[in-house]
Amino acid sequence: MTANPTALPLTQRPAWQALQAHYRQIQALHLRRLFADDPLRGERFVIDAVGIYLDYSKNRATDDTLRLLLRLADECGLQGRIEAMFNGDTINVTERRAALHTALRAPKGEKIMLDGVDVVADVHAVLERMAVFSGQVRSGQWLGYTGKPVRNIVNIGIGGSDLGPVMAYEALRHYSRRDLRFRFVSNVDSTDFVEATYDLDPEETLFIICSKTFTTLETLTNAHAARDWCLHKFGDAQAVCRHFVAVSTNAEEVSKFGINTDNMFGFWDWDGGRYSMDSAIGLSTMIAIGADNFRAMLEGFRAMDEHFRTAPFERNMPVIMGLLKLWYNNFFAAQSVGVFPYCQYLKRFPAYLQQLTMESNGKHITLDGSCVDYQTASVYWGEPGTNGQHSFFQLLHQGTRLIPCDFIGFCESLNPLGEQHALLMANLFAQTEALAFGKTDLEVKADGVADWLAPHRSFEGNRPSNTLLLEQLTPESLGKLVALYEHSVFTQGVIWNIDSFDQWGVELGKVLARKTAAELNSADEPELGHDSSTNALIRRYRRYKSGG
Ligand code: F6P
Repeated sequence: MTANPTALPLTQRPAWQALQAHYRQIQALHLRRLFADDPLRGERFVIDAVGIYLDYSKNRATDDTLRLLLRLADECGLQGRIEAMFNGDTINVTERRAALHTALRAPKGEKIMLDGVDVVADVHAVLERMAVFSGQVRSGQWLGYTGKPVRNIVNIGIGGSDLGPVMAYEALRHYSRRDLRFRFVSNVDSTDFVEATYDLDPEETLFIICSKTFTTLETLTNAHAARDWCLHKFGDAQAVCRHFVAVSTNAEEVSKFGINTDNMFGFWDWDGGRYSMDSAIGLSTMIAIGADNFRAMLEGFRAMDEHFRTAPFERNMPVIMGLLKLWYNNFFAAQSVGVFPYCQYLKRFPAYLQQLTMESNGKHITLDGSCVDYQTASVYWGEPGTNGQHSFFQLLHQGTRLIPCDFIGFCESLNPLGEQHALLMANLFAQTEALAFGKTDLEVKADGVADWLAPHRSFEGNRPSNTLLLEQLTPESLGKLVALYEHSVFTQGVIWNIDSFDQWGVELGKVLARKTAAELNSADEPELGHDSSTNALIRRYRRYKSGG
């Protein structure tokens, strides 16, 4: 009797083993051959759904590859896990929580019950409060302590409480109120706070303290710096309630800090920091673009959620993207993924994806507590095109590593200037073509290049990429893009059988930093119990500081 594949360890499942055998057969197969053998490949290997056109034809994958990857998804029970996520099951097992970020964009009136509470009703109650507050700030009705309208909004947060807000602000700047200034402070390096506020008038400045836990060292330190900065100007603690609002799940700590909980916008422990830009954590986004645009962004998220939940896997964009990246990661031993938005507004999108992908799937212990015997998350990185082309693209084209890439582009520019948009998009298309097909030694020599120089000037090609093409960057299309990556990360986490929603790996450094900070600041020479390297570094720092 054949064993139930879902009961077997991942690498012993039939689909995994078949993929290994299949990899050995096609590892040398060139994209030039794949395209020559199938003239319709560029039209077949695409998914056109919810306003995104995904061309995945320039991947080193055949129909068989896809069939086997889809079989692997089935053997890993992906459909059941998707349902579990949408239903609010406790899929974040190590923190004993649901991962219900999809409820943040559920339409008003839909019911998702968690522990007897309709979370969608809660979500909409907060959205409505955010809409009122952001309307007051945008219209100049929200006045500071001295009666001046707020004109500067400073978001203080880190990780998911910063990367989402700053990415969304930059991405949707075109839709933002230009008479308001937005700044984002995250680093505990005081330079971040000082530079962000140096030209601001406290009388016109509102701080949004964003922290799910309201215990994060960096955020609380910067929040205290902000309070001191205000009190220095106003000399009255009453000013805090006009110049500070909080976004958090922790009312007690918010109140201890001195922020009136009437000025607190809540969210819930079932929403992870890196999945929270569409919750109250997006308050700065809503102030910038307005409540209607924020709702349009939520609709974009929702459209992709629906697609992920209902589309058959062979036409399911997050599933196909997740599986193809897993194909390179686990079978070609690719270590990283490059993401290149050909859109200046998306300049912070790669940084946002770094937390989403690596904090979610950078794990080596499975849900049942054993150690994996396969690779998990890739290293994500990227820059907007065309800038990257004049920097690291050399390595993509002629280096020794295989780096699968995602190219993201829009058909319409939000700021058309002559032919510049066509030039931008021409570069995007040209890069994917050059990466895939290269230029052979013979072709190079046929161009008259000398024999000795030809190896340097030829391109082997066969470097895979996806192209994501959208009509225009709008709040809605941004929501779709973010949800696409969220769900492709989840797809991979399910296959790797890890908890994509915890982040225990960040804890040890935090504990050590607290201890070390006490040692750096202590008036007496502290007794150090670290390793010899850390002890010497601490002593060295202390000597510098004491002028010795
Ligand atoms: O240290 C990692 C982390 O916990 C992230 O997961 C989170 O997005 C970030 O810190 C900020 O946490 P908080 O919103 O609780 O301040």
